[in-house]
Amino acid sequence: MRAAVFGASGLLGRSVMRAFNDCDVTGTSLRRTGQGSVTVDATSSDEIQRVLDRLRPDVVVNCVGERRPEVWATAPARAHELNVDAARLIAAGARQHGARLLHISSDYVFDGRNPVYRTDAPRNPVNAYGRWKLLAEDVVRSVCPDAAILRLPVLYGPAQYAAETNLTQIARLVSAGVDAELDDVCVRYPTHADEAAEVCRWIAAAQLRGQCLGSACHWSAEQGFTKYRMAVMIGHRFGLSTEHIRAGEADAAAGDRPVDCRLDCRDLRAALGWPAHRYRTFSDEFPQMVEPWLPSSRRVSG
Ligand SMILES: NC(=O)c1ccc[n+]([C@@H]2O[C@H](COP(=O)([O-])OP(=O)(O)OC[C@H]3O[C@@H](n4cnc5c(N)ncnc54)[C@H](OP(=O)(O)O)[C@@H]3O)[C@@H](O)[C@H]2O)c1
Repeated sequence: MRAAVFGASGLLGRSVMRAFNDCDVTGTSLRRTGQGSVTVDATSSDEIQRVLDRLRPDVVVNCVGERRPEVWATAPARAHELNVDAARLIAAGARQHGARLLHISSDYVFDGRNPVYRTDAPRNPVNAYGRWKLLAEDVVRSVCPDAAILRLPVLYGPAQYAAETNLTQIARLVSAGVDAELDDVCVRYPTHADEAAEVCRWIAAAQLRGQCLGSACHWSAEQGFTKYRMAVMIGHRFGLSTEHIRAGEADAAAGDRPVDCRLDCRDLRAALGWPAHRYRTFSDEFPQMVEPWLPSSRRVSG
């Protein structure tokens, strides 16, 4: 299988590159180049066409996106471009080159008021990011009707910088010892990027077999936590005080963060035949991801 991964330098894209290492896979990125990745601006139709002409992939995975709230607020046009326009251009490129497309979407297309969300539940995003992801789903579906659209919740994994994941940001807050408030209302289902990437690999194989996966697919870890609960778990695991962290409701009160978008993943699990032993549990996995971001005195291996 020949695969092209757009957004290969990001949190999910790096995991996807590892999960596709049994294939002839090429990653593309914009700023973080190197390690064999090709520089492509995914907002340029010409650049996408050129790289697909050269690679002739069987499968295209689109991991390009802008999911940082500070960018949604300060540069909404840029965020729209990456979340919606790039999705359309990549879908058009995949279609023209006869490649199967796997597009990554988000649980934020739902309003978080009526979990658990089935794949056909009505979408009703409560913030701009969710609206862009919804628009992207629609545009991908219209350009590439047989695309797989995979909705994921918040991801964690091997981070390149502390602000890259919610989890490592929270770990930094815990270890800083400075007064802070963390939301204790909105429930998240942090899912390991490597597991999500393996699911992408399995979906790609299913697509090439001609298996129909439905109009959207859901994948998520089972365990749900608020940001405050994650801070308490980190403190407990590494012997750090969390007395400086207050339980609050900032995210829920702002009204632009869904309260609980738990995804119903049964259809995809059944379609892929995903074995139980491949599930990664947050409570088992988070310490390894957090440890590099703690003061060395708190590292088990330090
Ligand atoms: N992370 C999460 O918690 C989460 C949860 C649910 C869904 N998702 C979705 O999963 C997908 C991947 O997210 P992520 O967390 O891996 O994002 P990320 O870490 O922010 O990575 C974004 C990727 O997009 C690339 N990119 C940015 N601008 C580009 C451009 N103009 N042209 C080409 N590439 C460009 C980046 O490349 P450079 O950095 O090299 O420029 C990077 O590889 C997104 O669709 C996101 O909405 C993420």
